[in-house]
Amino acid sequence: MATFPTGDDAWNAMDMINQSPPVDCTKPYDTSTLAGKTILITGGASGFGAAFARHWALHGAHIMIGDVNDRAGEELVAELRASAPSSTQVFHYQHCDVTSWADQVALFQAALTSSPTGGIDAVVAGAGIVENGSSGRVFDTPRSLDPDNKLQPPPPPPLKVLAVNLTGVMYTTHLALHYLKQNAPPPGRRDRHILLISSVAGVMGLPGQTEYTASKHAVMGLFRAMRATAWAEGVRVNLLAPYFVDTPLLPTAGMLLLAGGAKGEVRDVVDAGTRLMADEGVRGRALCIGPGLKMEEEREEQVVWEIYAHDYARVEVFVWRYLKLLNVAHGVRGWVGLVKDLWGVFVTRRTR
Ligand SMILES: NC(=O)c1ccc[n+]([C@@H]2O[C@H](COP(=O)([O-])OP(=O)(O)OC[C@H]3O[C@@H](n4cnc5c(N)ncnc54)[C@H](O)[C@@H]3O)[C@@H](O)[C@H]2O)c1
Repeated sequence: MATFPTGDDAWNAMDMINQSPPVDCTKPYDTSTLAGKTILITGGASGFGAAFARHWALHGAHIMIGDVNDRAGEELVAELRASAPSSTQVFHYQHCDVTSWADQVALFQAALTSSPTGGIDAVVAGAGIVENGSSGRVFDTPRSLDPDNKLQPPPPPPLKVLAVNLTGVMYTTHLALHYLKQNAPPPGRRDRHILLISSVAGVMGLPGQTEYTASKHAVMGLFRAMRATAWAEGVRVNLLAPYFVDTPLLPTAGMLLLAGGAKGEVRDVVDAGTRLMADEGVRGRALCIGPGLKMEEEREEQVVWEIYAHDYARVEVFVWRYLKLLNVAHGVRGWVGLVKDLWGVFVTRRTR
């Protein structure tokens, strides 16, 4: 008969998904783990992606960038090559439209080929757009109606934001899971990390940015489900959810004005992203980055908050059973791998 847990800790699945404890953003972290890592960044030519690239390159990482802004991407790579602390560091830029599967495959293959370590250690799914300009604002603008033709439909929505921010991120994540797994398994262990970028628009509704909000909620959904399973492949998944930050992404200064001038800072996003990237013990965690706020008079201003921290602290029966099965399957796979290894060592060698 199936037994289920009882007591205060009932249905707590955090151990089953190998989730790390809450992130203490007041604690220092060690950046030395970045040296020698090969990190692939989509949308890395500008904004957060470019800031990550600059910062992580200074700490000795190899950086592979894919973007549609070729000029900015190539200039950035030239800058990284000129300022890198080590001449053995590799920097690569390649045109990659994340909505194209072929472009993304080519980016991952190029990253793998140029990586001095022969592998990819981390992937940042950073490319993103908002509803403005060429992408169109599809759901909120009242359309002019032809009074003589009530049946006339509007043109289909372009859904370009969903294509970049969701399909593009799904492609990146799928390829990341595939290529990260090819990193040497334990004991020659290397990090396998996927860093997703959602937004506060993935936590609350952002009026006027309906498609963007939908796309960022979708990235949050991707993260919340995937963090429960990716550990079985030895991959850790974390997420950043910034508030408004002044980068080329924001269509107008009006957004910042409406936010009362409150905004996050690129340096805080870089700091939060570096913590998740460098601290290999952080698994399945999401950080929201905003303007500095004091929660209590005597406390320091806080710019980073952990969000969706308790998803797996109390789960329902389907999730519980699914994770149990995954744990059992993982355990069996581990034993099969061990037996295969022992067979290889003792039997195959003896018969040679
Ligand atoms: N800036 C903010 O206020 C803010 C807040 C929350 C979340 N974000 C998210 O952070 C991420 C980075 O944004 P940012 O603020 O650095 O903006 P940004 O515009 O500076 O950077 C986005 C990058 O993505 C690239 N890109 C756009 N379409 C692409 C495509 N089809 N294929 C490949 N690359 C493409 C752009 O060329 C650009 O280099 C985005 O996912 C964005 O939604 C930004």
